[in-house]
Amino acid sequence: MYPHPEPDSPETFAPWSRGCRMSLRETHLPTVDMRHGEALSVLSTLDAASVDAVITDPPYSSGGMVRGDRTAGVHAKYVRRDSRSGNRLAAFGGDNRDQRSFAYWSALWLSEALRVTTPGGVLAVFTDWRQLPTTTDAIQAGGWVWRGIVPWHKPNGRRCQGRFANNCEYIVWGTCGPRPLNIVPHAPDGFFQINTPRQREHITQKPLELMRHLVTITPAGGLILDPFAGTGTTGVAAVLEGRSFLGVEASDHFHTIATRRLAEATELIDQRGEQPTLTP
Ligand SMILES: C[S@@+](CC[C@H](N)C(=O)[O-])C[C@H]1O[C@@H](n2cnc3c(N)ncnc32)[C@H](O)[C@@H]1O
Repeated sequence: MYPHPEPDSPETFAPWSRGCRMSLRETHLPTVDMRHGEALSVLSTLDAASVDAVITDPPYSSGGMVRGDRTAGVHAKYVRRDSRSGNRLAAFGGDNRDQRSFAYWSALWLSEALRVTTPGGVLAVFTDWRQLPTTTDAIQAGGWVWRGIVPWHKPNGRRCQGRFANNCEYIVWGTCGPRPLNIVPHAPDGFFQINTPRQREHITQKPLELMRHLVTITPAGGLILDPFAGTGTTGVAAVLEGRSFLGVEASDHFHTIATRRLAEATELIDQRGEQPTLTP
């Protein structure tokens, strides 16, 4: 069973967990557990109602105008041809489902994600304009209460003459049943305007600043699950904001990067001896 973090509990690790585990500080008890594995298989091993939030950026299976375009590699779909740094980054898998299988697969993992989430817990899933309708359908098919869409505007996004820029992504959010209003003490904004990161190790790496805002939807010390962790940005944000993290990543390459980044964030917190505050 994955332990639900108790602010005053001396426990730091899940005794059975595999992969990278590290203590943040002996006194403050968030935990980090970064698994190398396939999301659905790992989700099936987790206890019901054991995480406070699922905050994730799954493969979008997007790009292109027709089905054939979607099966192109992730560089062709998501990286500018003239981006030398982007084209040097490793590819990632799971991004070439056709529309029907993307919808079925999404509903499948979302229903497992619901099972492992505590009542009132939050789901936040990234998507793009093309997969937005399917994602809002899938979270409801998975049993979540759909609560809204948080647009993320990227001022440095690509523009194209004669067309409206597709320079937004979207965070579809929902809850595991009713959510009491007093779970967290603040009222977060429903819109973000943040550039994509200049320094990145993943084609679709999310900005740390954005993720730090998102994770505060859980109470301090709460456990956040990211079943498609990539380079572990959700986890780094969780660590910096004093939340526990359970990540899953299928790629060996990205799991290694996520493990390193989480260790660096943990080290930072250990050195400072206190949780940094959220930058406005
Ligand atoms: C969109 S990326 C996440 C990037 C992440 N937000 C970041 O900032 O680095 C999705 C990740 O999910 C991983 N993935 C794809 N299918 C998976 C699966 N079935 N189980 C676990 N991970 C998977 C991919 O390898 C990829 O790194």
